[in-house]
This record gives sequence, structure tokens and C-alpha cells, in this order.
Amino acid sequence: MDSGLEGLIAAETVLSDTDGARGVVLVRGYTVQELIKRHGFEGAVAILWDGFAADGLTRQRMHREFAEGRKLAYSRLPQWLDAAARQPLIQGVRMCLSATPDDATPSQIASALPVGIAALIRTRKGSSAVAPDPSLGTAADFLRMTHGQPVDAAVADALETYFVAVMDNGFNASTFTARVVASTQASIASAVLGGYCTFTGPKHGGAPGPTLDMLDDAAASGDVDAWLERKLAAGGRLMGFGHRVFRVRDPRADALRESLQRLGPSVGRLAFAADFERRALATLERHKPGRSLQTNLEINAALLLDAVGLDRDAFMPVFAIGRSAGWIAHALEQQKTGRMIRPLSKYVGPQPE
Ligand code: ACO
Repeated sequence: MDSGLEGLIAAETVLSDTDGARGVVLVRGYTVQELIKRHGFEGAVAILWDGFAADGLTRQRMHREFAEGRKLAYSRLPQWLDAAARQPLIQGVRMCLSATPDDATPSQIASALPVGIAALIRTRKGSSAVAPDPSLGTAADFLRMTHGQPVDAAVADALETYFVAVMDNGFNASTFTARVVASTQASIASAVLGGYCTFTGPKHGGAPGPTLDMLDDAAASGDVDAWLERKLAAGGRLMGFGHRVFRVRDPRADALRESLQRLGPSVGRLAFAADFERRALATLERHKPGRSLQTNLEINAALLLDAVGLDRDAFMPVFAIGRSAGWIAHALEQQKTGRMIRPLSKYVGPQPE
């Protein structure tokens, strides 16, 4: 037994893999770097979903389906938005997903998030929701619907890179949850809601916001080394470091960094973050020798989400836009090929007299 199921193989999948020793994320035979360079978000989703959501998917078809999905999601906003906008953003997004009907198609479920999150962000600030533009891709249209005006191509490209980078990486905690839900033949919409709920915690999808708080805190201290020592000596965790599977640096961190560098001077924290990372790795090695706690993708993710103009409470929900493509693919694969997931527990409680 391992209470975290560490090292346990719970299913076969043709979708994606994280090779923690070599530092590779593979999605249907493509490295994540290749998907970023050549396929964009819609193209990568076509590759990931092909044979599951439909056969013969293409980038153009996903573009069209997502555009239609955003239009439908926008028309459904009155059903849930008012009540959800009075809640914290993370809860509001949960309500958005709860409002997605059980018979929604994969594209409709995936499109509910960018429209719903943009509408929630604006409504909570007292502005009205902006209708989607079907000519744009998901990343560019999400930023346009959030900011109320089109954004520069480089900014949209950065978010698109992020969506592809985080789309899928094997059995992470939220993807596993989505598969457990789907394994009972519950709806794909329910599986995505389950994945989202698992994702919200700071050890998983909720990491990017607190990561930026941590960088700010360390910078404000004026002495990064002393800050790191204090943090680890007190038993604290450094956000953006450590991973259940990676024993080397997460390759997605560098893909995001390249994208950040293209954004140029709007990313003032980049140099500080690189210096922080170097010092943090040395301090981690001293405090946790042999654990191989390496950089995960969260520092560069947090910098990127900040650089495209998002508030910290939106980081996790926006992360979920990209990751939902993975939850959907895994839920579909589970329904098609898997059994109901039902492990055992070891009872250690009292026995009857
Ligand atoms: N900082 C300091 N110590 C750490 C860190 C960290 N970031 N990560 C793990 N450790 C230590 C733990 O304290 C523990 O030490 P101990 O054995 O001396 O008590 C040991 O490493 C193992 O920790 P676990 O929590 O059992 O390892 P797990 O595989 O569950 O950790 C996790 C993975 C949750 C990502 C962890 O590394 C962490 O909390 N990191 C910080 C949060 C973060 O960046 N999350 C985003 C991950 S990427 C994603 O999910 C999208």
C-alpha cells in the first residue's frame, strides 16, 4: 500500500505520459514542445481527442467547434452568472461547470470555461460580459473577453503556449479524479467538474497564485537566501518546486520561459525569478538532500499569467481551461476502454467485541 498511490500504475492510456527521469511530457507521440511549436491549442486538442471525441479531428474543425461552443456558452450565461459572480472566483467557476448539461459535447464543455471565467472576472468587477468572437482561437478570444478589447498577438501566443503546455501529462491528481468519475459511466461534464474540484488545491492547480505571492514575499525581504532558510527551517514548502513524477526539471518550465522572453519588458520579474530559482534549488538540496526537488512549471506559469494581465485569483481557473482538454480526453478514454475504478482500503479501525 502507498497512501499517495505513488508508483502505482492504475490504467493503460494512449493519451499522454510524463517521463519523470528524462524530463519528457508526451501527448499521443508528440513532445509537448512540438505541439507548442507546430499545432497551437486547437491543433493539439485535435490530436489529443482524435478517435475519442470524434474521428479525423483537425485544427480547423476544433477551431470551428470551439467557436460554436463559446457562442452557446455565452447564450447560457443568464442561467448561472448572477449568483456565481457573488462568490469567490474559484467557487463561481465551479458553478459555471455545474451548469453545463450532462449531454454537452466535449467541445461545449471545454468552451464553457473560457466564456464563463471571462464573464465572471468582468461581472465581479462591475463590467458586463463580452460576447465571443468566432474568428479567434480560444486563447486570444479568452483574453479579449476578459480585457474587453483584443490583445497583442504575442500576448495571445503566450497564453496559447501555456494552454498547450499544461493540457495533459498522464495521471495527475485531477485527471485521475476525472477518470474515476467517468469510470462509473457518469457524464463527461461530471468528470470535468470532478477534475476541476481536485485541481483547486495549492499542491496542484492552485499553485500559480501562491507562487507569485511567494516571489513577492522573498523579493520584499531584501535577502532571498535568508528568506529561503527561514521558510524551509520552519517546515514550509517552496511553491514551484517538487513534483510527484519529475525527478529532473519540468521541461514545460523552459517552454513557458521562452514564451515569456518573447513578451519582453512587460516581464520585469523574469531575472529575479531566475536568480530565486538558482538559490532555492541550492537551499532545497541542503535541507532535503537526495530528494531531488526540482523546478516544476509553476514559477514561469505564474509569471506568464501575470504578464498576460490576469489577477492572481484567476490563475487556477485559467490553468483549468488548458487542463480541461486533458480531463475530457481521459474521461472519454476511460468510458471507452476502462473498468469501473474501485480499489480496496485496508481497515485499521476497531473490530466488534
Ligand atoms: N518545498 C519543500 N519541501 C518539499 C517540497 C517543496 N516544494 N515538495 C516536496 N517537499 C518535501 C516534503 O516536505 C517531504 O519532505 P520529508 O519527507 O522530509 O517530510 C518530501 O519532499 C516529500 O513530499 P510529498 O508531499 O510526500 O511529495 P509529493 O510527491 O506528494 O509532492 C508536490 C508533490 C505536492 C507537488 C510537492 O512537491 C509540493 O507541495 N510542491 C509545492 C507546490 C507546487 O509547486 N505544486 C505544483 C505542482 S505541479 C502541478 O500539480 C500542476
